[in-house]
Amino acid sequence: MKKHYLLTPGPTPIPPEVALKEALPILHHRTGEFAAIYKDVAEGLKYVFQTKNEVYTVAGSGTATMEIAVVNLLSAGDEIIVAGCGNFGDRWAKIAQSYGVKVISASAPWGNVVKPAEIEKALKENPNVKAVYTTFTETSTGVVNDIKAIGDIVSKTNAVLVVDTISGLVGQEFRTDEWKVDVAVSGSQKGFMLAPGLAFITLSEKAWKLAETSKLPKFYFDIKKYKKSYATNETPFTPPVTLIVSLQESIRLIKERGIENLWNDYKLLAKAARAGMKALGLELYGEVPCEVVTSAQVPEAIGGKIVKTLREKYGVSIAGGQGDLKGKIIRFAHMGYIGKADLLVGFACLEMVLTELGLNVEKGKAVAAAETELLRG
Ligand SMILES: Cc1ncc(COP(=O)(O)O)c(C=O)c1O
Repeated sequence: MKKHYLLTPGPTPIPPEVALKEALPILHHRTGEFAAIYKDVAEGLKYVFQTKNEVYTVAGSGTATMEIAVVNLLSAGDEIIVAGCGNFGDRWAKIAQSYGVKVISASAPWGNVVKPAEIEKALKENPNVKAVYTTFTETSTGVVNDIKAIGDIVSKTNAVLVVDTISGLVGQEFRTDEWKVDVAVSGSQKGFMLAPGLAFITLSEKAWKLAETSKLPKFYFDIKKYKKSYATNETPFTPPVTLIVSLQESIRLIKERGIENLWNDYKLLAKAARAGMKALGLELYGEVPCEVVTSAQVPEAIGGKIVKTLREKYGVSIAGGQGDLKGKIIRFAHMGYIGKADLLVGFACLEMVLTELGLNVEKGKAVAAAETELLRG
């Protein structure tokens, strides 16, 4: 029998209170009982996104709402700016191009962060741009972009700002309205402490105006359908009822702790994780590390084996690198229901695995370094 520790940047473990809600009998979705839950969830989502605007819940993974943010704002031949810095930033360009949208790049190399000045320059050079698409926390590399600075720039133009907060929401300070973000999208399996399967999207008035002109094809992903149903506390199609019932519980837990306290909790975990990596002799990866996942460089000779050995021998799942970073970095998550004790278990096992794979690691040093940060508070 193996005990599992899920320390990957999504999916993440879920609290027992949330898991138990998934075991309740299925409700019918066209009932007052479900509508009351949906209404409560919809209000809670506004708090989590820090917005006064409606937040729609969609059946699908986070990428579903990324696609919604493309097909509902644009028409074929439109120009957009994509400012990415990793695998998920690149996804914006792939979705847009698959619909015949022209992509102007203001992206940074993987590992770096997006430069707001590059976006400003691209907007000046391309005054017809309809929207700027970017990423909050770029999970593939572990960096965070300065969305507030980008919001200040984009809000002065006719373009709307669309931000992927799929891994960063709840885990790191994010303020949709205050930072002048027009469209924010997210998913259930990370900061929300839920199973995968739900995606969320919110739109500002400016974004709704653009949506009025959009001609790209859509049916299931037509955001107007979601808006119409929202008015009667419903979803246009059969929702994953179980997930929405458990989302109500996860939002309750988020509210109980307070989102600002949660931001501080993960900030502390991030500090401890960075200290742990350094104590292992591993160099951190990424220009501005985010607070939901810590990436560190590993020797390529053992890169591929670390994640596999940790999982198979100790039941601890972390993530490796994606794309060109495969085998070159490891990614240790501290988001959602991952807590202090999980972090210490993860580092203790990582010390053992690195030792087994031939690295000269002083046993206990990473755990001690992480503990020191955690105790500092
Ligand atoms: C920043 C970011 N964007 C997009 C995605 C894709 O989300 P999903 O796999 O839920 O479609 C992920 C998933 O890891 C992510 O971390």
